[in-house]
Amino acid sequence: MSDLPRPREPMASIPPPPAETSARTRLELLFDAGSFEELDATVVHRTEAFGMAKKRPPGDGVITGLGKVCGRTVYAFSQDRTVLGGSLGEAHAHKICKVLDMAVRNGSPVVGICDSGGARIQEGVDSLAGYGDIFFKNVRASGVVPQLSLILGPSAGGAVYSPALTDFVIMSEGQSYMFLTGPKVVKTVTFEDVPTEELGGAKVHAEKSGVAHFVAAHDADAIELARRILSYLPDNSQVAPPESDCDDPPDRMCDGLDALVPRDSQQPYDVRDIVKRVVDRDSFLEVHEAYAANVVVGLARLAGRPVGVIANQPAVLAGVLDINSSRKAARFIRTCNAFRIPLVSFVDVPGFLPGRDQEHGGAICHGAKLLYAYCESSVPKLSVILRKAYGGAYIVMSSKHVGGDACLAWPNAEIAVMGAAGAVEILYKREIAAAADPRAEAKRLQAEHESLFLSPRQAAERGFVDAIIDPAETRRKLCRMLIAVQHRRDLSWPKRNGNIPL
Ligand code: HXC
Repeated sequence: MSDLPRPREPMASIPPPPAETSARTRLELLFDAGSFEELDATVVHRTEAFGMAKKRPPGDGVITGLGKVCGRTVYAFSQDRTVLGGSLGEAHAHKICKVLDMAVRNGSPVVGICDSGGARIQEGVDSLAGYGDIFFKNVRASGVVPQLSLILGPSAGGAVYSPALTDFVIMSEGQSYMFLTGPKVVKTVTFEDVPTEELGGAKVHAEKSGVAHFVAAHDADAIELARRILSYLPDNSQVAPPESDCDDPPDRMCDGLDALVPRDSQQPYDVRDIVKRVVDRDSFLEVHEAYAANVVVGLARLAGRPVGVIANQPAVLAGVLDINSSRKAARFIRTCNAFRIPLVSFVDVPGFLPGRDQEHGGAICHGAKLLYAYCESSVPKLSVILRKAYGGAYIVMSSKHVGGDACLAWPNAEIAVMGAAGAVEILYKREIAAAADPRAEAKRLQAEHESLFLSPRQAAERGFVDAIIDPAETRRKLCRMLIAVQHRRDLSWPKRNGNIPL
């Protein structure tokens, strides 16, 4: 059991911390008081060119080491923008590689605090080689130990690829940027004037590119968030995620839950209201909140055990699955699977978004990515169908057919190939046209179709739905099922790698 950081509450009596802090203060904030052990503080570079022989700052612009986060060992590096612009040369890279190696060898998470102008120009190809080594180690560590990146200042060039290879990226608002090439280079190449913030600010990467999983208000907020994320993750992929004491009874009834979901399946609602009431109190931490908001993903706990939540969001684009929401959910599922975090899916999905843009953008492959991620995962998978589960999206969203362990449905769930209006239009076009009152006939046929197919009955008769449950029992059932399937094992052939769609 670990002493977990609680959700961030605004504390009116305490003045806010300074927006920006030094590289060393950032590590002090990250680690439990007095637990930081520095490594390689005296390392210097060996470059002579460009007058660098006279500039050999000890530590070479990055502080590295290890310490405790909520009592657990974590490795970290923190780049120092005040030393050679935080730029990365050979020695700087070796220091980072050393903590990555130690983290993997000892099975502990790594936190990288990035604040760097990228490859150190004066060191030429040695700097590029340094980045290459880091990328290689990031990829080798991927899925072995959790890797978190905090972007707390400008990060350019090679300094952005390494974070992109890690599990979670946190950017601080208004003071961090990520771009492969800065505004000046953009102007030279494309003659385009793009302000820094617009090119690679936190908002852009949280909303448009999806590079940032989280946006923090300032440094201390970002670091607190990193501590909180770590509380859901195991030390490495060989051990279970940390359980915590749970003061929220696992058998708590969720009265009134169904009232949050409008009976009319065209009406929107915020699925997060359902999620927050089902999982352990205050345990839901949304990931990628501003990106592809038609699907909600996040870390939470059930009976004190970490789970990954995937929920269609009827409040945005009716919860339809499209290219970006499929990519977002697929990536999250793979992160959870890597770290043994069971998946809980809340399903209310009208299908995949149709249209030329989606097809031309590769919706087939991106939707298949989500399918692939669910099928590939070997963690326990629970799901609750709240309302709509239509067509391919029903299959994709953690159904029994893609390896779901438990599939529950609320009584008003609609599980069908498509909605009644579309189905009737296709099946009875001629009959409707020939009717004395085509509208009335269409309505009658829709009602008939709804009573036959728009319910969980047929799926439950086949065993595709394990149980139709009272919505108030959702938490209780999920907690029980989670314990029941905790030792799930997949028997499969060893393989080199699967071939995830483009
Ligand atoms: C050496 C650098 C540097 C770099 C900054 N500095 N970047 N030194 N190599 N890459 C130094 C500056 O010379 C300056 O030194 C000090 O750091 C602070 O820089 P400023 O420009 O004064 O700071 P600021 O205005 O805050 O701007 C920060 C910045 C900017 C946006 C990061 O410095 C910048 O654009 N740097 C270059 C970014 C870039 O294009 N990097 C890509 C490198 S190529 P003094 O001595 O004056 O204090 C790359 C490819 C790798 O990374 C590919 C791997 C596959």
